[in-house]
Amino acid sequence: LGDISHQEDVAKIFQQIQASLPPLKGVIHSAGVLDDGVMQNLSWQQFTKVMGPKVQGSWHLHELTKDLTLDFFVCFSSIASMLGSSGQGNYAAANGFMDALAYYRRGLGLPGLSINWGAWASAGMAASLDSRNQHRFQSTGISSIEPERGMQALGSLLFDAPGQVGVLPIDWSKFANQLPRGVKRPFLEGLISVEPSVTEKSAFLEQLEVAPVSEREELLTTHLRSVIAKTLGLQDIRKVGMRQPLFDLGLDSLMAVELKNRLESSLETSLRSTLLFDYPTVETLVEYLAKDVIEMDFSDEIQNVEEENLFEEESSQLSDVTELSETELEASVLEEIEALEKLI
Ligand SMILES: NC(=O)c1ccc[n+]([C@@H]2O[C@H](COP(=O)([O-])OP(=O)(O)OC[C@H]3O[C@@H](n4cnc5c(N)ncnc54)[C@H](OP(=O)(O)O)[C@@H]3O)[C@@H](O)[C@H]2O)c1
Repeated sequence: LGDISHQEDVAKIFQQIQASLPPLKGVIHSAGVLDDGVMQNLSWQQFTKVMGPKVQGSWHLHELTKDLTLDFFVCFSSIASMLGSSGQGNYAAANGFMDALAYYRRGLGLPGLSINWGAWASAGMAASLDSRNQHRFQSTGISSIEPERGMQALGSLLFDAPGQVGVLPIDWSKFANQLPRGVKRPFLEGLISVEPSVTEKSAFLEQLEVAPVSEREELLTTHLRSVIAKTLGLQDIRKVGMRQPLFDLGLDSLMAVELKNRLESSLETSLRSTLLFDYPTVETLVEYLAKDVIEMDFSDEIQNVEEENLFEEESSQLSDVTELSETELEASVLEEIEALEKLI
């Protein structure tokens, strides 16, 4: 019918409604687009694209209906503006505008409701995300809204709700566990204990602390590989090789942020934002974390662990050898010889 971010398009639609339909009694704003990316990489165009339908769009609807007697004025906002969502800074801001608009309208004595929806199942923008992005969502403890339940929630909120309501199935303890440590979340204080006591240690650090020194390197390696596999949505941690660059395994910049957050949480420390660029393989990460980050003694016999892991990695990669070209095979063999020489 038109572009909601263009005032003249919206005005034309209102004229058509006035001319041919019964009086308008309610508005549901559900236009939106996604264009995700880590904040540093977002272009201004990615902002304006996502802001258009939400910021200008909802404002035009407000302006053109403020003198009408409406029963409801509902904005389909997102949980991104209520709880945050990595890689969705532009989308969170756009939805945040609609949340504020609902309060503003109420202040004027007009109906206003902003629903911060979690991801809907089956159809729509969340369901059309690729499986990796869906996995990313689910791994934060947030599961999808079945359309029937969502419609029930909408029905019950339409005429009797405060200005802003979040609707989402969520496992709060799982959600709390993946939050970066040390960040204050006053908004969530009533729902989850987000500030661990100073003496409380993460389960992994506790396990590391009681382990014999000679076993710590192996524990750290296994922990890293399983956190990486989880972030990448891999079932088998053996697919995370010791020397394979993580970006070659499919890690993207959003996942890199997520992985860093997970490690900060399990290691209870702040890690540099360039961590995965400076230490792009499991092997280099383990070495850096053991030597410079975790304040515990680690065995000098790192090599034993490396040998075992390399063996494991090699066994799982053997089946790939037949698919390599002669040049690739030669490069791979040279790399392995180099690795073995370092171990001798
Ligand atoms: N689905 C979810 O899981 C979810 C979760 C939280 C919040 N929400 C919010 O709920 C709303 C509906 O989501 P959805 O899943 O139904 O999204 P969707 O399937 O991607 O549909 C979005 C709709 O918005 C329209 N649109 C985009 N820009 C527009 C513009 N400038 N002017 C007019 N129409 C425009 C699109 O029209 P065209 O197809 O013609 O481009 C499309 O029909 C969105 O506002 C979204 O942010 C959805």
